[in-house]
Amino acid sequence: MKEMRSVQPLAPTSMAVVSEVLDWYIIFSLWELASTHITVQRTCVTGVLCKRYWSGGSGDPRASPPGPPGLPLIGNILALARDPHVYMRELSGEHGEIFSLDLGGISAVVLNGYDALKECLLRQSDVFADRPSLPLFLKLTKMGGLLNAKYGRCWTEHRKLALGCFRSFGFGHKWFESRICEESSFFLDAVDTYKGRAFDPKHLTTIAVSNVSNLILFGERFRYDDGDFLHMIEIFSENIELAASAWVFLYNAFPLIGLLPFGKHHQLFRNAAEVYDFLLRIIQRFSENRTPHSPRHYIDAYLDEMEKSAADPDSSYSTENLIFSVGELIIAGTETTTNVLRWAVLFMALYPNIQDLLLSSTLIRSSSNRLQDFSRISPILWNSLPQHVRLSTTVGSFRRNLKTHLFRKDYSLH
Ligand code: HEM
Repeated sequence: MKEMRSVQPLAPTSMAVVSEVLDWYIIFSLWELASTHITVQRTCVTGVLCKRYWSGGSGDPRASPPGPPGLPLIGNILALARDPHVYMRELSGEHGEIFSLDLGGISAVVLNGYDALKECLLRQSDVFADRPSLPLFLKLTKMGGLLNAKYGRCWTEHRKLALGCFRSFGFGHKWFESRICEESSFFLDAVDTYKGRAFDPKHLTTIAVSNVSNLILFGERFRYDDGDFLHMIEIFSENIELAASAWVFLYNAFPLIGLLPFGKHHQLFRNAAEVYDFLLRIIQRFSENRTPHSPRHYIDAYLDEMEKSAADPDSSYSTENLIFSVGELIIAGTETTTNVLRWAVLFMALYPNIQDLLLSSTLIRSSSNRLQDFSRISPILWNSLPQHVRLSTTVGSFRRNLKTHLFRKDYSLH
């Protein structure tokens, strides 16, 4: 939480003390909330002022890109709670390609458009490779695993291993293409069982898509009637939605609201605990009969690395990080691709002429290009994952300091 605020020139220790005091102050305010509304209104407003004063709000205004005015305490969080991509598009029209947001005292900058994204992704990739230590990420993965790891050893080791495994156990191999075709036949057989009746293709598509990554992660596919696996994916994908809810933005800004007995963040934490339990069980199942140094899939390869670095106290390989990275690889590949395909089906149902167009282009264009065509016309992912500016730098004409969070609007390129 301390890392998230843009800081005025206070010594780090003073900052930590102030932050602790404010945390307790907010707990105290919440406690009062339970007893009397009038007292709470007063204490919360004072709490906001204290927090803003010490944290410096959104940072040095001279350095900040323009942005919308925010409400006291919660900044622009409420405006983001509904149709964030529409809100951000409007802001970009009003303030330009680079604008600021106040996420409850957390300074964030949103990048839109080709030039700003190219600068951040290509020219300064290492400056923007870090993830912010948001309370949500801290609670869910302790900044470990693959997707949310801080830029450093864990970040490098987990990305290197994942890329290596995707190459060795799948991508680019002829036999892998035939396994994907095999999955397509299972999918079509399952569709045929409906005999032309209407049905929701969500579950089938989710497991079929996930099975492509599952071959690499576990060396096996899951059956379409595997209720446990489907349930795991469903609550995981529910968590993606919950993570973009106003409750979770508030939790990130004021983690002490985690002490309240209600709020959507509790559902998110319950889901995550259930997902991690399930993943641990399947990791154990798929690592049975393993031969060390002869990996059959990602789990085996990870366990080999864990054993190799057992004597290294700084190694980032651990059972916990294995669970996090397996979950992240499943959801990163499944949620995205499934939603693109569901949009594709919807477009084709609504505009049957597109079906002919696609069939004719099958011969000349790769399938990944066709998927990209669909993601161009629908906002599958309205945002990238948040990034953390690791070094002070300049984007466009704005200087960004450490502790700024960055959102890339990759969709703005479409
Ligand atoms: C249509 C399909 C897909 C879309 C639209 C998509 C989109 C994205 C986006 C926007 C990010 C965030 C990048 C960032 O902000 O740092 C991302 C990251 C990632 N995606 Fe995908 N993705 C897709 C398919 C997949 C598949 C099939 C896999 C693998 C199984 C995958 C694995 C990952 C991983 C591991 C990351 C994290 C990369 C990192 O943090 O360095 N994605 N994806």
